[in-house]
Amino acid sequence: MSVFSTGFGAAKAILLGEHAVVYGEPAIAAALSVGVTAEARLAPRSSLQLNQPVSKDARAALQRAFERALRCLDIDKVELQLTSEVPIGMGLGSSGALSVAVANALLGLKSQAASRRKHKVLSIALEMEKEFHGTPSGVDHHTSALGGIVTFKNGIARRLTNPRSFTLVAVLAGQRPNTKETVQRLRERQQLWPQRYRRVFREIGQLAKEGVQAIEQGDLEWLGDLFNMNQGLLSALGLSSPNIEEAVYRLRKLGALGAKLTGAGGDGGAVLGLFENPQDAVRKLRGHEVIVAHFKSDTLKPKKHNAVRA
Ligand code: PMV
Repeated sequence: MSVFSTGFGAAKAILLGEHAVVYGEPAIAAALSVGVTAEARLAPRSSLQLNQPVSKDARAALQRAFERALRCLDIDKVELQLTSEVPIGMGLGSSGALSVAVANALLGLKSQAASRRKHKVLSIALEMEKEFHGTPSGVDHHTSALGGIVTFKNGIARRLTNPRSFTLVAVLAGQRPNTKETVQRLRERQQLWPQRYRRVFREIGQLAKEGVQAIEQGDLEWLGDLFNMNQGLLSALGLSSPNIEEAVYRLRKLGALGAKLTGAGGDGGAVLGLFENPQDAVRKLRGHEVIVAHFKSDTLKPKKHNAVRA
């Protein structure tokens, strides 16, 4: 057993298929080079610190998730310091990143053999994600742990290659409810009218399937159109808002090939624009909180530094 260990979990952006992925449809997500770092130290008593202010409820969920992780590994008392480079609870997968970072750090304390580690990271992160998402699809923590661009369905992630480079520009469109609440509200609507909601989820799943082809064929215009259509369906599901729509239209006006909310949405959070040449848009967005992530062609291995806060 080591006394001190650190772990990292990448943030992510969902390109296509959020929410429908909870109902068994495929999604596409991409890991960012920024994320969450966890530093864990064996100590006489447990404590938890985070470098960003969060609400009382979010803090309580974080504490419960941390306790779940400790129970998974039968570790008693740990001082945990979390440093997030991405805004918490804005749709960039901070909870998945945090869960993967904590799992990596705690497994480091246990000196877990590398061969069994990946599986363990995923299972601990899933336990933690249940606190944050209620019924997590798993897309966030799988993408965080695997890196690169992935397609995910029912617990299985596959890495995609992209012959054409592209850039995602994420702008923040204000505060939003937590993911668990938004997922739960959607479930209530879906339970009232299951067939109609099923049809929309299935269509979103079709967009994600087409998205896999568009990415692997390097057809960014096709991918952009899929972004736009996915945004329309997320809006039909009641997951958009004036703040989000305003950011979507701003990104499209700035030349995005497509734009949509990413993550749980609901009222605000991150909105993604797909660009081939983002320089002009990034310049015009100066003064706004923006994250820019470049995906160089043929991303079989995640590039070291694909994302920066602009
Ligand atoms: O907003 P985030 O980063 O928590 O992403 C949530 C993604 C959902 O599809 C809405 C939920 C899930 O578990 O997949």
